Amino acid sequence: MHVEALELSKFRNYRSLNIELDPHLNIFVGDNAQGKTNLLESVYFLATGRSHRTNRDGDLINWHGEEAQVRAQVKTIMGSFTMRANLSRDRRKRFMIGGEELRRQSDLLGFLNVVLFSPDDLQLVKGSPSMRRRFIDLLLAQTSKVYRYDLVNYNKVLQQRNSFLKSIAEGKAKRDDLLLWDEQLVRYGTQLMFRRAKAIDRIGELASISHREISGGEETLTVHYLPFYATEGTTPETLEALSADEIAENFAQGLAAHRHQEMRRGVTLVGPQRDDILFRVDGKDARQFASQGQQRTVVLATKLAELEFMREEVGEYPVLLLDDVLSELDFSRRSSFLEIISGRVQTLLTTTDRDNFQQDKLCQFREYGIVDGQLVGEG
Ligand SMILES: Nc1ncnc2c1ncn2[C@@H]1O[C@H](COP(=O)(O)OP(=O)(O)OP(=O)(O)O)[C@@H](O)[C@H]1O
Ligand SMILES: [Mg+2]
Repeated sequence: MHVEALELSKFRNYRSLNIELDPHLNIFVGDNAQGKTNLLESVYFLATGRSHRTNRDGDLINWHGEEAQVRAQVKTIMGSFTMRANLSRDRRKRFMIGGEELRRQSDLLGFLNVVLFSPDDLQLVKGSPSMRRRFIDLLLAQTSKVYRYDLVNYNKVLQQRNSFLKSIAEGKAKRDDLLLWDEQLVRYGTQLMFRRAKAIDRIGELASISHREISGGEETLTVHYLPFYATEGTTPETLEALSADEIAENFAQGLAAHRHQEMRRGVTLVGPQRDDILFRVDGKDARQFASQGQQRTVVLATKLAELEFMREEVGEYPVLLLDDVLSELDFSRRSSFLEIISGRVQTLLTTTDRDNFQQDKLCQFREYGIVDGQLVGEG
């Protein structure tokens, strides 16, 4: 799928912008603080309903404005349609597909799929588990309606169960009623975990292939799902090919084992909100042992796997947003990355230094200069 045209009004430092995009490679060149990331953020926002760098939607509206709008003409194998996001300082945000307003924000996912790769993603290996959970959640929420549904429901149940636990801790509720919440928690949670396990398995296969391509075949990457009940000594291989029944059983056991602690502390201590993903290079935990360069290669390989996974699941590639990350790679890694995606994936790429891409054997591409939230010249 690809974005044919993008229109911004009062989004961040853009007063108004109207551009047509190449179905393949688009390079946005500009100095620091000119609006390159803001532009990618607008596409990410339209696709996912949220920004990748702030939880305050008001930040996205131009400082001198009350409302902002992002509009895109999107083309997919299903057809061509318009997507629109409206932000306002005094109303909730609204999303429109064609002329129709969406009732729930979670319905937005799946219309325009994106994979974002920004400098923050280099933390995917070393950062906190929550980053890795967000990674797998967004991937699955974009590609599976059922996962979206289970995720929304799980989070709702989790929240309600937590407030119920607080009431018990304060002596305001009966502990027997907790069982009702447990049943739902396990039901939705098991679905999430089962799908995560399968997806991470496939992502691992794909990532290890692309990892071999970029690293010149010298190292082997493996990716493993670590459900919340995996303990320090668990061998990740024993957690592969888990059945839904096994997961549900482990979940129920975990709840039983933590019941007293949960009631005392007033919070749910087990469940997929505690899952993690393990990356290994040549069998060693990349979080502990991988060098900077190795981590970067792992993330790059994982991003490529993400693209491929999405194509397998939905029948076409998502749009790739590359925020200033390729310039940090050495020439050969950058070239093999661009070679893999070229001609197949619509890419919006930002850089401060266009010379970084001069030597590369790029296929056709379109170049845009960005200065102070304005387009200056197209090539
Ligand atoms: N709501 C807003 N209204 C107006 N300007 C904003 C708003 N939010 C951010 N900005 C401005 O946008 C600029 C940052 O834009 P952006 O992050 O896109 O820069 P960039 O081109 O990606 O720079 P770098 O190369 O350093 O990453 C900042 O100078 C900031 O002041
Ligand atoms: Mg930037």
